Amino acid sequence: MRWYACPLQGRRRMNLQLSSALLLGADVLRSLNPQSPQARAIFNLGIVTAIVLAVIFAVVVAIVVYALVRFRQRKGEGDPEQKAGYLPIEIVWTVIPFVIVTVLFVLAARTMGISDPAPPPNPDLVIIGHQWWWEARYTKSGVIAANEIHIPVGKPIALKLDSADVLHEFWVPELARKMTTVPGHPNHMWLQADKAGTYLGFCSEFCGTQHAWMHFLIVAEPQENFETWENAQLAPAAVPVTENARKGLALFEQMSCVNCHAIEGTTASASVGPNLTHFASRRQLGAGIVANTPENLRRWLTDPQKVKPGAKMPDFKFTSEQVTDLADYIETLK
Ligand code: CUA
Repeated sequence: MRWYACPLQGRRRMNLQLSSALLLGADVLRSLNPQSPQARAIFNLGIVTAIVLAVIFAVVVAIVVYALVRFRQRKGEGDPEQKAGYLPIEIVWTVIPFVIVTVLFVLAARTMGISDPAPPPNPDLVIIGHQWWWEARYTKSGVIAANEIHIPVGKPIALKLDSADVLHEFWVPELARKMTTVPGHPNHMWLQADKAGTYLGFCSEFCGTQHAWMHFLIVAEPQENFETWENAQLAPAAVPVTENARKGLALFEQMSCVNCHAIEGTTASASVGPNLTHFASRRQLGAGIVANTPENLRRWLTDPQKVKPGAKMPDFKFTSEQVTDLADYIETLK
């Protein structure tokens, strides 16, 4: 395996590592704020396990301290009397751990039943991990989204998870368990949100240079809002009206953009990079690395490697006029 050389050096590299560490801390804290029946079951099991472990720890420490004080060697005392075994105590310290492990096993099995029921034959949503972004395919409507995944609130959504390249791990700490995406070996899980809102998701398995910037958003909304979004995503791409935007579309179709991206209704139909048919409706750019603003889009087109070093999109060395035309076109893709 080829190891990626970090393109950042010195202080910038250290800042990146520090921010990754802080982000990881924030992810873990999020899992302490469960917002779905599945996440709550996992959280409750975690609390019960922590209490049991704390009690065991306290009892063991108390016994050790008591024994140290009570039976310490006093002046003039020799070795204590040696015994081969003591049946009652052997039984006690076999039975107690057995009971504890059995109780935790039953609780864990119950939790798995709530957080991880068997998947249905047909998933609602297929999630595909890519270096370094997420693709979401809605099996019923045919919508293809990237990095911003809308779901109706209060409904369990069956996910099938796959990967286009290496191992990734799909994790929305507030909503569900983690699940690894393995190329060619689909996994399944459930995703649900009790309340409308935007939940941050991450890749939690190291997958290369931009592993730390493989974020996504789960947007949970009432059924009718979800349907409005889904219908908007199904609409064909906006037709450019301004002179610049028209030039941008022509440029998009002539350049290598079409080798990786798809825009419904144009000649671009590749699925290597994110589908851009409704790019401008998304809140973030580059799997969460920056907000999706016209300025950031121009920065991205000018040199994606400056915005997200290591990203699979190369620097095409567009002139500033080309950047303007392309951005004007892509901005119309609401
Ligand atoms: Cu994908 Cu880490």
